[in-house]
Amino acid sequence: MDFLLHRLRGRCYSNAEKGNQAVTTQRCRVGVLASGRGSNFRAIAESCLPRDFPAEVACLVTDNPSAHAVAVAEELGISWHSVDAGEKRGRLREGAEEAIVGLLEAARVDLVFLAGFMRILRGPLLARYAGRIMNIHPSLLPSFKGLRAQRQALEYGARVTGCTVHFVDASVDGGPIILQAAVPVLDGDNVETLSARVLEEEHRIVARAVALFARGTLRIEGRRVLGVDGATKGA
Ligand code: GRF
Repeated sequence: MDFLLHRLRGRCYSNAEKGNQAVTTQRCRVGVLASGRGSNFRAIAESCLPRDFPAEVACLVTDNPSAHAVAVAEELGISWHSVDAGEKRGRLREGAEEAIVGLLEAARVDLVFLAGFMRILRGPLLARYAGRIMNIHPSLLPSFKGLRAQRQALEYGARVTGCTVHFVDASVDGGPIILQAAVPVLDGDNVETLSARVLEEEHRIVARAVALFARGTLRIEGRRVLGVDGATKGA
């Protein structure tokens, strides 16, 4: 995986100054996969709007053409594609992952971001984009994996929860952690109020994780992702 990240450094660049001359270089192309509301997709896409941000959103791929994420893509002028992922909840039908890989390759994507994509990846996507797939999860992993993480935190009685951006591997919510943000659980919280505060933090860390990746600062050593601390603020 380390090898893959090093290799990627040759593909994603930030804009750089050379003497007084501005050198325009290629931005990291992000393909976002989303199934629903699309607020994390929006956070990523809007963070990419400034020309000096090191990444741009190349496309949205969804398994749900009536997802609000599609309306967000249309509003922001981002091309989107729908794949027939099959009926089985949480799973991808035979051939669906291959179809997604085809769409991402056609869009020349460097980084894949799962922003509320409600299907588990198992095969070709992981192989094709190993070390280049991120996911946002609404808990401080490894606590509260899987669905309804905010409800799990409340029911467990946790005093602190939060969110995590991690690299995706074949495990569920188990890949190396890139960024986390903590959110206190308050006495008066219910699932809605807690989720809303966690979501604010999600929006902040998804954008930051994309920038870190695009600037080529991240590297994986075993379970640890290094290169976060020294990165410039706002990256
Ligand atoms: C977020 O809570 C994210 O952490 C989880 O799915 C939800 C997606 O929300 N993986 P949105 O579609 O980005 O608004």
